[in-house]
Amino acid sequence: MNDYQNLKITITGQGGSGKSATVIKFVQNHFVEDYDPTIEDSFRKQLKVNEKVYMLDILDAAGCEYYWGMRSPYIKETNIFILLYSITNQSSLQFLKDEEYRDIMKYLSEEQEYSIIVVGNKKDLENERQVTTKEGEEFAEEIGAYFVESSAKTDDLVPLFEKIVTFHLDG
Ligand code: GTP
Ligand code: MG
Repeated sequence: MNDYQNLKITITGQGGSGKSATVIKFVQNHFVEDYDPTIEDSFRKQLKVNEKVYMLDILDAAGCEYYWGMRSPYIKETNIFILLYSITNQSSLQFLKDEEYRDIMKYLSEEQEYSIIVVGNKKDLENERQVTTKEGEEFAEEIGAYFVESSAKTDDLVPLFEKIVTFHLDG
């Protein structure tokens, strides 16, 4: 018998914004400096939150509506959507607003209980910032999401994922 609960997480956002770097830092605790574009990867990691163990199944997915169509069964099972942009690239936030959010919403099932997390990544690159914290917060508020800025390079991402799971569980 499983003594843990499974949670499915889908992370999405514009190419180059740091989805893979974020997931790999969390799962393997190292920062991937090179840029190697992903089509699709999946990761599993156990995480203990409030004395309970969760098995996180994380899908690291290239954006675009075509792929969402093919992945619709996975979307319907997703508990937590992480919409990630880079604070150094205004178009990466725009991409979430204009495309990813809308595309994912199309494939949700009606009875689905899900949470959305908006992550402003690359916060270590403060001198290259193009997106203010307020702009990120406002988008998150608009869609009822939890908002956080982080850095795959300089942050320990275990606390970030603990917060994300806690937000999901508390509703
Ligand atoms: P696709 O797979 O093409 O969709 O891109 P991705 O979103 O997975 O981006 P990836 O994680 O590959 O990161 C792209 C580049 O940005 C890499 O060179 C990373 O090292 C760099 N990068 C990612 N996150 C950060 C960060 O928080 N800070 C800094 N300084 N660089 C980052
Ligand atoms: Mg990637």
